[in-house]
Amino acid sequence: MSKTPSVIDLEAMPFSEVCNKLKRLRLFEPSLGVLGFFFVSFCLICSFFFLDYRTASKGFVFPLRSESFVWLRNANLGQNRKFEFLSKEGNGCDLFDGNWVWDDSYPLYESKSCPFVDQGFRCSENGRPDLFYTKWRWQPKLCNLPRFNATLMLEKMRNKRVVFVGDSIGRNQWESLLCMLSSAVPNKESIYEVNGSPITKHKGFLVFKFKDFNCTVEYYRAPFLVLQSRPPSGTSQEIKTTLKLDQMDWSSAKWRDADILVFNTGHWWNYEKTIRGGCYFQEGKEVKTEMKIDDAYQQSLKTVMHWINKELNSKKTTVFFRMFAPVHFRGGDWRNGGSCHLEALPELGSSLVPPETWSHFRIANAILSGYPTTPNSTRLEILNVTQMTAQRKDGHSSLYYLSPDVGPAPPHRQDCSHWCLPGVPDVWNELLYALFLKHEWKSSTSQATPF
Ligand SMILES: *[C@@H]1O[C@H](CO)[C@@H](O)[C@H](O)[C@H]1NC(C)=O
Ligand SMILES: *[C@@H]1O[C@H](CO)[C@@H](O)[C@H](O)[C@H]1NC(C)=O
Ligand SMILES: *[C@@H]1O[C@H](CO)[C@@H](O)[C@H](O)[C@H]1NC(C)=O
Ligand SMILES: *[C@@H]1O[C@H](CO)[C@@H](O)[C@H](O)[C@H]1NC(C)=O
Repeated sequence: MSKTPSVIDLEAMPFSEVCNKLKRLRLFEPSLGVLGFFFVSFCLICSFFFLDYRTASKGFVFPLRSESFVWLRNANLGQNRKFEFLSKEGNGCDLFDGNWVWDDSYPLYESKSCPFVDQGFRCSENGRPDLFYTKWRWQPKLCNLPRFNATLMLEKMRNKRVVFVGDSIGRNQWESLLCMLSSAVPNKESIYEVNGSPITKHKGFLVFKFKDFNCTVEYYRAPFLVLQSRPPSGTSQEIKTTLKLDQMDWSSAKWRDADILVFNTGHWWNYEKTIRGGCYFQEGKEVKTEMKIDDAYQQSLKTVMHWINKELNSKKTTVFFRMFAPVHFRGGDWRNGGSCHLEALPELGSSLVPPETWSHFRIANAILSGYPTTPNSTRLEILNVTQMTAQRKDGHSSLYYLSPDVGPAPPHRQDCSHWCLPGVPDVWNELLYALFLKHEWKSSTSQATPF
């Protein structure tokens, strides 16, 4: 447990406190306030240097982009030149093996200028005092990611459908992509929900159209991916619903023809969200009241993989499966006062991640790794984000999921599972973007050559 002292200091001092102190100083003694501000900034910069020095060898680097640090950046980058992921040399580079890197040019958009974000994800607007969580870029070890270009992605998606299916963390990622793409569209009126539904806390599905590109970016709520419905007649009273582990969610008819499908699941596969509420598991006609949740989860994933491989048009559809995104509650969970609001920096390890995360991860990883890669099977890309996301304890909505007129939530009611936007889900989408472009590039070159 050898943390650098500067990290501990930053964690121990809530940023709101620093801000309040500064505000008070400014009020009574302007010159002292300004001095104090410079002093705190100076300390921060020093601690960044210190971290950079201490952790560069451990792979936790802070290359600062502003001009005054160019010499430092060069010293860092000089060590190993990386290939571009989209170039031939970048083939086979594991995008998910890498580090979080401080980058002043981030975030990619401001939530203020994106009308497609739930209030619950607008952390800065809701009063979160620090902006550090918006400044981290993902740097793979062996190659560089392409810089996200919304215009290019929209052009590649012309006349196409991108569909996110999953739980509310999937909606988090979907809204992130809407913001990333809409940043390149000056006329926001040309982007609209086709049924006129508002984005906030919607339970069913939402279809946003980018008129100038005739493409849609859609979200369907299906937290289990498989079908949840009434139990067979004649089952006991305590069984209110069942999850049909061998059937896809009812809405699958609506998205099976999408060009890009982005799945996620996991957060609902627990006792709270199933058996406690009278939701049991069913295979065929049989309700399996004794079945363990992990086994049911595994079975449902097998059904999803089989469906992807056998039921989809492999010439048309590409599937992305985003792996489990860890929660970060310290000292409890969402029911009993767990918190994450003092986290302002990522950590190298993942000490705050509960063990359930890794059991979910292992189950999904085993099933997804077994997916066939024959030329005829539908292409499946795994967004293997669990490990990298485990380090981002600083990225959650915490107290800042209520609108500014309500103010921060009480400390015992924190959200340490959803993510602030801009923030971590943007990075998942940058990885999706890189894999999407790589495939586009490959298929266009294979068309250009006679074999
Ligand atoms: C983004 O892509 C568009 C369309 O391909 C291109 O015209 C533009 O130069 C790109 N922007 C950057 C910054 O690379
Ligand atoms: C718009 O895209 C859809 C597919 O999503 C396609 O069926 C339709 O023909 C396109 N419309 C035009 C005008 O290209
Ligand atoms: C995902 O990454 C982990 C390491 O973080 C690795 O063990 C696992 O095999 C990867 N899974 C897939 C399906 O690529
Ligand atoms: C793959 O598809 C091609 C044509 O679409 C077919 O000729 C071939 O038999 C298929 N291969 C397998 C292993 O199914």
